Amino acid sequence: MQTFIETQFPIARLSAESYKERKAGASQTLTGLGKWWGRKPLVLVRASIIGMLMPASNDAKRDREIFLKILTMDDDGIWQRCKGEIPASAWREAASPEVQEEFFGARSFIHGMGDEEKAAVCAQIWEALSSEEQLALDALRMRPISDRAEFEALTYAERLVHCERPENIAGPTHTAWVEINAHLGTTASNLSELVQQLGQRTFGHTPRVGDSFCGGGSIPFEAARIGCEAFGSDLNPVAGLLTWASLNLLGGGAAVQAEVARVQQQAFAAADQQITDWGIEHNERGERAETFLYCVEVKPEGCDYYIPMAPSWVVAEKYNVVTRWTRIANSDRLQPEVLAVSDAEFKLYKEKKGATMVDSRVVDPLDPNRTWSVEALRGTDGLRRWTNDDVVPRAGDVFQERLYCIRWAKTVMRNGKPKLERRYAAPETADLARETKVQSLLRERFAGWQQAGLIPSRGIPEGGDETARLYRERGWTHWHQLFTPRQLLMLGSVMQFASENDDEQLVSKVANLLRSGMMADFLSKLCRWDPTLAKSGGIGACIQTFYNQAFNTLVTHGSRALTGLEAFSIGTRQIGSPVFGKSKVELRDARDLREVCDIWITDPPYADAVNYHELADFFLAWYDKQLGKAFPEWTSDARAELAVRGDGEDFRRSMVDIYKNLARHMPANGLQMVMFTHQDPAVWADLGMILWAAGLKATAAWTISTETEAAGIKKGNYVQGTVCLVLRKRAGNEPGFLDEVYPLVEDEVKRQIASMQALDEGGEPNFNDADYQLAAYAAALKVLTHYGTLDGKDVEHEVFAVRERNAKSDFQVVIERALGIACDTLIPRGLDASWRDLSLVERYYLRSLDIESRGERRKGMYEELARGFGVSDIRPLLKSDKANGARMFTPSGLAATILIAVGAGNSGASGQLSSQNTSSARGRASANGPHPFATSPLRHLMFAIRETTSADNSPEPGRQYLRDTFGQGYWTKREGFVALLEWLSALGNTADMGEWQADSEASRILAGRLRNDHA
Ligand SMILES: C[S@@+](CC[C@H](N)C(=O)[O-])C[C@H]1O[C@@H](n2cnc3c(N)ncnc32)[C@H](O)[C@@H]1O
Repeated sequence: MQTFIETQFPIARLSAESYKERKAGASQTLTGLGKWWGRKPLVLVRASIIGMLMPASNDAKRDREIFLKILTMDDDGIWQRCKGEIPASAWREAASPEVQEEFFGARSFIHGMGDEEKAAVCAQIWEALSSEEQLALDALRMRPISDRAEFEALTYAERLVHCERPENIAGPTHTAWVEINAHLGTTASNLSELVQQLGQRTFGHTPRVGDSFCGGGSIPFEAARIGCEAFGSDLNPVAGLLTWASLNLLGGGAAVQAEVARVQQQAFAAADQQITDWGIEHNERGERAETFLYCVEVKPEGCDYYIPMAPSWVVAEKYNVVTRWTRIANSDRLQPEVLAVSDAEFKLYKEKKGATMVDSRVVDPLDPNRTWSVEALRGTDGLRRWTNDDVVPRAGDVFQERLYCIRWAKTVMRNGKPKLERRYAAPETADLARETKVQSLLRERFAGWQQAGLIPSRGIPEGGDETARLYRERGWTHWHQLFTPRQLLMLGSVMQFASENDDEQLVSKVANLLRSGMMADFLSKLCRWDPTLAKSGGIGACIQTFYNQAFNTLVTHGSRALTGLEAFSIGTRQIGSPVFGKSKVELRDARDLREVCDIWITDPPYADAVNYHELADFFLAWYDKQLGKAFPEWTSDARAELAVRGDGEDFRRSMVDIYKNLARHMPANGLQMVMFTHQDPAVWADLGMILWAAGLKATAAWTISTETEAAGIKKGNYVQGTVCLVLRKRAGNEPGFLDEVYPLVEDEVKRQIASMQALDEGGEPNFNDADYQLAAYAAALKVLTHYGTLDGKDVEHEVFAVRERNAKSDFQVVIERALGIACDTLIPRGLDASWRDLSLVERYYLRSLDIESRGERRKGMYEELARGFGVSDIRPLLKSDKANGARMFTPSGLAATILIAVGAGNSGASGQLSSQNTSSARGRASANGPHPFATSPLRHLMFAIRETTSADNSPEPGRQYLRDTFGQGYWTKREGFVALLEWLSALGNTADMGEWQADSEASRILAGRLRNDHA
């Protein structure tokens, strides 16, 4: 039985939903638990699971409507999600007399009720209503767009701007459930019941969904939330902890969350009291510090003072605050002055006035002509390597660290109202004394805290791609050295108070651990200071350590005071609905998994992606000994040697082993989805081969544009897509033969494309060119992966076969052939009649123009098309080959370049694609010969257009050129030319194709002239 996802998937709507979820930033459901890289959108996971459980019927259109209803992504569902409050008076009206009496006054809620209590009363009222009454009440919601017709006139992405995410509403309405049940033969009244009934039907029990690379936990969390049994496993303990917390802390419900919040608040309050008692954040003016700014300083050879390093000395854009340095007599240290300057001067500072770190060189602030290379300053032997007990640089170290600015805050009364006043100042003697005190307080505790695991004690592993720079650029060898003494003292204090309550529940222990990681992310020497208006309204903000996927050592950094960490309480976000399903989390190498799941959804590390094992060590250094107390059976080691990475032979070997193992641990009718994100759509063919070798067969593939700008969905303004490949176990190992496979692939590609085009007709486009190309690959894989061998060759052997550079396996050739068929099936609208008579390179040029006119700018897509049409050199045809700004040349842009008289060049260059001879090699340019486009009729026609444009739209020179060029052949070609000219004449009116305006107009005029031409 085919499932919904094996026949279709609502790509456009899901892309918009996924994008909305990702754009929610910190208010995404799981991000509040801690940092993980490459989290998958929950809505995509939800849709994938439902798509794999829902059977496909003979009515594709109705299937789609029902599927969208389940996800509240149909028109009713999205209207239901359109935000807006139902007024309290309407709630009152709908309530029973008893509820009215107890909770309402004349019009609204009684005074003093909190938001949570109000929400609980509303839920109670809602539950007691019939579905008709619910609809009537919902109609009173004060939506930002109150008229439904007006709302529906917007595109889906535009509507979404005003909507809740599906996960944050109760689910389909009663009316929707009636339709869903009627179509599916179920009796569900919520998602979890539906999931159980569909699972029961296919697998005989509640469906079990597993993820062997669970990372931040999106897949097991969402699976459990919609009622599946969930299994999550990862090699990395940080991932294990995040996944466990998603299921048991967020999924634990409001009471668990409230208790965990209480424990965290208690520890924080105790630490706050401690910091206050020590007097290390308060000054004599009654102010408390909010932020401390530190910089590195260096004393280069020949300079008799230390130079504080910074790429900019702007402190706060809102108040024009900057730092200025002056020399003090008899000292080798400069003196900072933190002050507000005039607008004019501030502008200079923004343009890097006084910057002392420019292009990896240190600049003397007192004589900008003197500069030193940072690399050279590190010395030929590199920096001294710090030892465990180093918490600050030693006196002789090249790079020193110093405090140069403090932002103070104090609440004062202004006009009878409390007001927070801020002040930026260079440290005074008393502040420096506090810094010294911090150091001695830390020294007193350092060894004990390290031993107890309250602060990191681990060394930084050597030889890492990412971690190596910590040694090289700073000499740091231990994780605690990424923190100042002040930071260690704060974090250690919070950890100490949190760990004192040893009898607390496991969820609270986990929350305390995750909080230490979260705080460390926002409180390290790798936290950049951002003074811009854009970030903090211009008062300045400390950016998190992992604002990208790297360890960036900085010369200046911002360090929050304790109050700046209060918000990092873990697990307090309420989730829309409780987690129903049972769950289990393990720490395992995916090769060693022993759990059986009906559905595996995995998102493996791929190619040049994130160095998970190195980055996560930053957090593991904090969890370390405490982790063992919470999960005695877990290792606290990242086991880097087992991590899947790279894209070479080792990578392929581990992936084949892993997916063989997963295939072994699923029932015969089980399903898998492999998700991965990569900019180049071609690389996934490689992954397809791996999965094939693992004994799986592909049944569908879809790309979801998870990074798409909502407004850009239709324009194809994509950054990258997540490919979702659906697979089943290959039952037999039937032998396949290439000559039989080709026609099957051809049929499958055409069938797949036709079914997608049918879904696209009339409505919003679901698919873009990348989707069609991907579908072609998938169709080829569908056919290919059905077989165990091809022409007697074993797949696994082929995956690992050593080949010469650029040599292709038969398998790759078939896959590329499928792309060729897809390319040739997708004829630009209006060119159907002329298409057959065009050469491959001409078709390539026109298809490229077609995608350009629909907003496609990714160079990779133009390269993919070239592969499909067998054009090997596209550079002469591309006006711009920017990665995200590719464009084709116009006729005037090409002028007389790559133009060769007909018959003068490579005669095979303009070869026709006949239905019999479809070798993908045809139409290629020879390595050194003329470009195949140069002699093509289309190229000459473009020159004639250019001649027309140059002659102020007189068509005569262009017509004459064509006659001269083609002689008698002109008359047979004339009709085809007219059709092409008419197509080109429409381009100039297309959005963002302004460059074509003149040439399009010339095309129109030339077409008219040719139409009326007579011998
Ligand atoms: C792309 S991430 C998964 C992200 C996850 N889907 C999410 O939404 O957060 C890939 C994961 O594979 C894990 N991993 C790498 N090698 C592994 C192995 N041999 N066994 C199990 N997990 C591994 C990494 O630790 C990482 O968490």
